[in-house]
Amino acid sequence: MGRCCFYAVGTLSLLLLVTSVTLLVARVFQKAVDQTIEKNIVLRNGSETFDSWKKPPLPVYSQFYFFNVTNPAEILRGEIPRLEEVGPYTYREIRSKADIQFGDNGTTVSAASNKTYVFLRDQSVGDPQIDSIRTLNIPAVIAMEWAQQNFLRVIIRALLKAYQQELFVMHTVDDLLWGYKDEILSLIHPFRPDISPYFGLYYGKNGTNDGDYVFLTGEDNYLNFSKIVEWNGKTSLDWWTTDKCNMINGTDGDTFHPLITKDEVLYIFPSDFCRSLYITFSDFESVQGLPAFRYRVPEEILANTSDNAGFCIPKGNCLGSGVLNVSVCKNGAPIILSFPHFYQADERFISAIEGMHPNKEYHETFVDVNPLTGIILRAAKRFQINIYVEKIDDFIETGNVRTMVFPVMYVNESVLIDKETASRLKSVVDTTLIVTNIPYIIMALGVFFGLVFTWLACRGQGSGDEVSFFLTG
Ligand SMILES: *[C@@H]1O[C@H](CO)[C@@H](O)[C@H](O)[C@H]1NC(C)=O
Ligand SMILES: *[C@@H]1O[C@H](CO)[C@@H](O)[C@H](O)[C@H]1NC(C)=O
Ligand SMILES: *[C@@H]1O[C@H](CO)[C@@H](O)[C@H](O)[C@H]1NC(C)=O
Ligand SMILES: *[C@@H]1O[C@H](CO)[C@@H](O)[C@H](O)[C@H]1NC(C)=O
Ligand SMILES: *[C@@H]1O[C@H](CO)[C@@H](O)[C@H](O)[C@H]1NC(C)=O
Ligand SMILES: *[C@@H]1O[C@H](CO)[C@@H](O)[C@H](O)[C@H]1NC(C)=O
Ligand SMILES: *[C@@H]1O[C@H](CO)[C@@H](O)[C@H](O)[C@H]1NC(C)=O
Ligand SMILES: *[C@@H]1O[C@H](CO)[C@@H](O)[C@H](O)[C@H]1NC(C)=O
Ligand SMILES: *[C@@H]1O[C@H](CO)[C@@H](O)[C@H](O)[C@H]1NC(C)=O
Ligand SMILES: *[C@@H]1O[C@H](CO)[C@@H](O)[C@H](O)[C@H]1NC(C)=O
Repeated sequence: MGRCCFYAVGTLSLLLLVTSVTLLVARVFQKAVDQTIEKNIVLRNGSETFDSWKKPPLPVYSQFYFFNVTNPAEILRGEIPRLEEVGPYTYREIRSKADIQFGDNGTTVSAASNKTYVFLRDQSVGDPQIDSIRTLNIPAVIAMEWAQQNFLRVIIRALLKAYQQELFVMHTVDDLLWGYKDEILSLIHPFRPDISPYFGLYYGKNGTNDGDYVFLTGEDNYLNFSKIVEWNGKTSLDWWTTDKCNMINGTDGDTFHPLITKDEVLYIFPSDFCRSLYITFSDFESVQGLPAFRYRVPEEILANTSDNAGFCIPKGNCLGSGVLNVSVCKNGAPIILSFPHFYQADERFISAIEGMHPNKEYHETFVDVNPLTGIILRAAKRFQINIYVEKIDDFIETGNVRTMVFPVMYVNESVLIDKETASRLKSVVDTTLIVTNIPYIIMALGVFFGLVFTWLACRGQGSGDEVSFFLTG
C-alpha cells in the first residue's frame, strides 16, 4: 500500500510536468485565448464590439487653444508677432456611426462618423460667445491667395481693392470656430455658389460627418479589424505626388485590432490631417490598473526626409520639418498643419513667433492602447492650424509683414477610459491571464508532488516503515 502510493506520487508528478511542458510548447491555452479574442472583436451586427463602435461609450473632449495677437501694428511693420495662448475652450464630442451597411458577406461595413460638439463651461476659461480673439483675417488671406492663382483672379482682385480688409481682426471664439458671415466671401459667393459666405475653422463640422467610409470588419482576419478600405468612394487620395503618400492606411484611430505586439507599427488615417500617419511603440504604461502600450507619432512623420518628399507640393517645394501644407485638401486655403507650438518642427518656425514653447508632455500626440483587446485606454490627438502669410505687393493690407507660418489655433482631442469600463475590461484581462497561466499552475503542482516524492524517497532510504507510517496515518 505505502509503496504503491509512493510510486503514484512520482508518476503523478511526472505526468503533471510533462503535461504542463506540452501545453506550454504547443501554446494550447494561449491559442485558445487568442482565437476567442479574434472571433469576438469583429464588427458583426449585435456583437458588443459592434455596439461600442457604433456608439463609442467613452467621452471624447476637444479642447481649443487660440493665439491672441498682441502687436498687430508692429507685425505689419515687419516685426516678430507676439502671441498669447488663450484656452482651453472645451467641448464634449458626441460620436455615433450613421448609415451602417454590411457588405461582402460581412467582411466590410460602410458607415459615416457623426460628431456633435457640446460646450462645457466649467472646463473652459471663458464664454466663447463673449471672449474675443485678435487673429489673422483668414478669409481675406485666402482670397488674396486665390487672387494669386488663376481662380476668379480679376473679380477677387477688384473686390479686395474695393473693400480694403485689415490683416488682423477681432472675432469671438464661437465665430472663429463655428463660423461667421464674412464680407469678402459673401461678395465672392454670387460668382461661385460653391464657396460658402461663412468662414470658421470648424464651420459645418457640428452634427455632421467627415465622409463615407468602408471598413473591414475583421471577419476574414483580425489584423484587418476596422481597417479603412474606402473613403468617399476612393481607395486612395489623389492630392499628394506619390502613390505611397496617397495611400489610405490603417484605421481612423478610434479602434485598433486586438493582440497588438510592440514591434508593430500602427497606421491611422485622420481625415482632418489629409494624409495617413503611423504611430510606434515607445513605453509600457498602466491606465486605471490596465496594462497599456504607449504609441506615439514619431518625429519622422513630418520630417524633411526623402520618404516625405511626396508631401511637398507643388512637387519639390518642401517647407521644412514639422509642417504640412494641406492647401490642396482645403479648397486652396493656405493652411499649414503642425503639432502645437511647432513641437518637433525646425527651430526657424519657433523663433519666427514670440510665444511658442514646444513641450513633449503637452504637445505630442499619443495613444495608450490595451495590447490584448486593442481598446484605447487614453489618448491625445493634438495639432495646430497655421496660415501661411507673406507680403503681397498688390495688396497694401499685407504691409511689410514677414513671410511666416502663422499659428492661429491648436486642439487637443483627448479620451480617458472611465473607472467602470476599466473594471469591466480588467475582469476580461484577468480571466485571460488566469487561463494562459494554467500550464504554470499544473507545472507548480508537478513540482510540488516531485518534492513530496523526493522527500519520501529520502525518508524511505532510512526505513521503509517510516514511509508507510507517514502515508497511512
Ligand atoms: C442589425 O440587426 C437588427 C435586428 O435584427 C436590424 O434591425 C438592423 O437593421 C441590423 N443592422 C444592420 C446594420 O444590418
Ligand atoms: C458570399 O458567400 C457566398 C457563399 O459562400 C459566395 O458564393 C459569394 O461569392 C460571397 N460573396 C462575396 C461578395 O464575397
Ligand atoms: C452642435 O449641435 C448641437 C445640436 O445639433 C447643439 O446642441 C450644440 O450646441 C451645437 N454646438 C455648437 C458648438 O454650436
Ligand atoms: C485678446 O487680445 C485683445 C486685445 O489685446 C483683448 O481685448 C482680448 O480680451 C484678448 N482676448 C482674450 C480672450 O483674452
Ligand atoms: C448627427 O447627430 C446629430 C445630433 O445627435 C443629429 O441631429 C444628426 O441628424 C446626425 N446626423 C446624421 C447624418 O446622422
Ligand atoms: C486582410 O488580412 C490579410 C492578412 O493580413 C491580407 O492578406 C488581406 O489582404 C487583408 N484584406 C484586405 C482587404 O486588406
Ligand atoms: C502606407 O503603408 C505602406 C505600407 O503598407 C507604406 O509603404 C506607405 O508609406 C504608407 N503611406 C502613408 C502615407 O503612411
Ligand atoms: C501649398 O500648396 C499649394 C497648393 O499646391 C501651393 O499653391 C502653395 O504655394 C503651397 N504653399 C507654400 C507655402 O508652399
Ligand atoms: C530638406 O532636405 C533637403 C535634402 O536633405 C535639403 O536640401 C533642403 O534644404 C531641406 N529643406 C528645408 C526647408 O529644410
Ligand atoms: C490637452 O492638452 C493640453 C495642452 O496641449 C493640456 O493643457 C490639457 O490638459 C490636455 N487635456 C487633457 C484632458 O489631457
